[in-house]
Amino acid sequence: MTIKTVLRMGSPSLQQPSKKVGSFNTPELNQLIQDMWDTMQAENGAGLAAPQIGVNLQVVIFGFKDNPRYVDAPEVPTTVLINPEINPLSSTMDHQWEGCLSLPGMRGLVPRYTHIHYRGFDAHGQLIDREVEGFHARVVQHECDHLDGILYPQRIQDMAEFGFREELEMSDRIQSQPCDD
Ligand code: NI
Repeated sequence: MTIKTVLRMGSPSLQQPSKKVGSFNTPELNQLIQDMWDTMQAENGAGLAAPQIGVNLQVVIFGFKDNPRYVDAPEVPTTVLINPEINPLSSTMDHQWEGCLSLPGMRGLVPRYTHIHYRGFDAHGQLIDREVEGFHARVVQHECDHLDGILYPQRIQDMAEFGFREELEMSDRIQSQPCDD
């Protein structure tokens, strides 16, 4: 059980593109994935990307059933996604409030494609190939942006829609959430 420090916005590791994973089922890769799960669980995250713990490899994890940070969100299957590729299946986007473990206490209104196809590999190198919508699609786009060195504030269209969670809750712009990040 190793809980890593989650790097915060401003760290160079979060700003650079990540390299593809070349071989699967190695002790190093399995350890990285385990550290990511331990860290995400400790922080109650919905997802985590390897660069957030300082490893610039194309590995993301996501998924949850009942997450206190996302009380109204539908379930997303627990997934390890390696070397991912995303294709939007329509040009439709919607705006929802997002948070990120690398920006504790902040929320922003972010446009994302509502309907995407994504593919990549699981921890054993097996193909993952899915067509998804809504919150699942949003989580995948957020996590995969980390692999390109992009954090959600860079996607916000109106910076008036970015701020501290507590302030946004007090002014009823977002629903209150039982968390303290
Ligand atoms: Ni994030």
